[in-house]
Amino acid sequence: MLSYQHGFHAGNHADVLKHTILCFVADYLLQKDKPFYCHDTHGGRGLYNLQHPMAQKTGEYRDGIARVWGATQPPALLQPYLAALRAFNADGTLHYYAGSSLLVQAMARPQDRLVANELHPQEYLALRDNAAGRRNLRVTKEDGYAALKAALPPKERRGVVLVDPSYELAADDVAVVEALREALKRFATGTYLVWYPVVEPQRAQKLVKMIAALPVQKLLQLELYVREPVAGEGGMAGSGMLVINPPWTLEDRMREALPWLVQQIAPECGSSSVTWLNNADA
Ligand SMILES: C[S@@+](CC[C@H](N)C(=O)[O-])C[C@H]1O[C@@H](n2cnc3c(N)ncnc32)[C@H](O)[C@@H]1O
Repeated sequence: MLSYQHGFHAGNHADVLKHTILCFVADYLLQKDKPFYCHDTHGGRGLYNLQHPMAQKTGEYRDGIARVWGATQPPALLQPYLAALRAFNADGTLHYYAGSSLLVQAMARPQDRLVANELHPQEYLALRDNAAGRRNLRVTKEDGYAALKAALPPKERRGVVLVDPSYELAADDVAVVEALREALKRFATGTYLVWYPVVEPQRAQKLVKMIAALPVQKLLQLELYVREPVAGEGGMAGSGMLVINPPWTLEDRMREALPWLVQQIAPECGSSSVTWLNNADA
């Protein structure tokens, strides 16, 4: 039984990391006229009112997007993300936080195609409502891992896959690795973004190791911590994104942007890293 609800966490530091990278990759794909495909295996609700009791209860967005939103000169990497988010907050005040599928939808052209899966019944209904009337985005109440397997390779032959589970279940880790293994057989040239939380450092390290053992030529690890992770302490000390087949500009942009994000979000105890786990060109 799924109980995770992203509404409690929307716009937190992990979302800022994840969505900054996602929008940067989408922006990179937009640089060619050819259409692209985006598959979001774990869609969430798509749009979050930050005045909703869920967001207000945890206030996580205040230590995430709220610390970035008003910045005068954010690094280039953040610009596609902040521009997409502005589409949901036209008066310049941060009222709404957009999730992965709606952010990419806001950036997409008529020729691009987006699919988002969401298994939780209520979250699915909310996603369906939030996606209603928005072109190109198809939402389904399916298991994201199975739906991804069925969708690949996309007819566009170029695109990005976001794998963003809540990791509520220990089984998620293996499911992520097996879904990637299957996906890479079908669509080896796609860009894959795999987000993971760092709550228990050992669990995160094990997942990263399993993904790095997949047959991928280029794998970039990007991490943002708001404090040092300590085994057994609980709570999310930070999170990471594994990027399979990253755009060639991503590494340098992240090296510039991550220290800036640390300064904005967690200047006292934060840290970040950019690491090649596999790099066939090195
Ligand atoms: C971290 S949230 C997704 C957030 C969203 N990707 C974003 O960035 O805005 C994870 C979501 O996955 C959903 N979920 C859990 N298991 C799933 C599965 N096997 N297939 C599809 N959705 C699933 C949960 O209900 C939850 O809404």
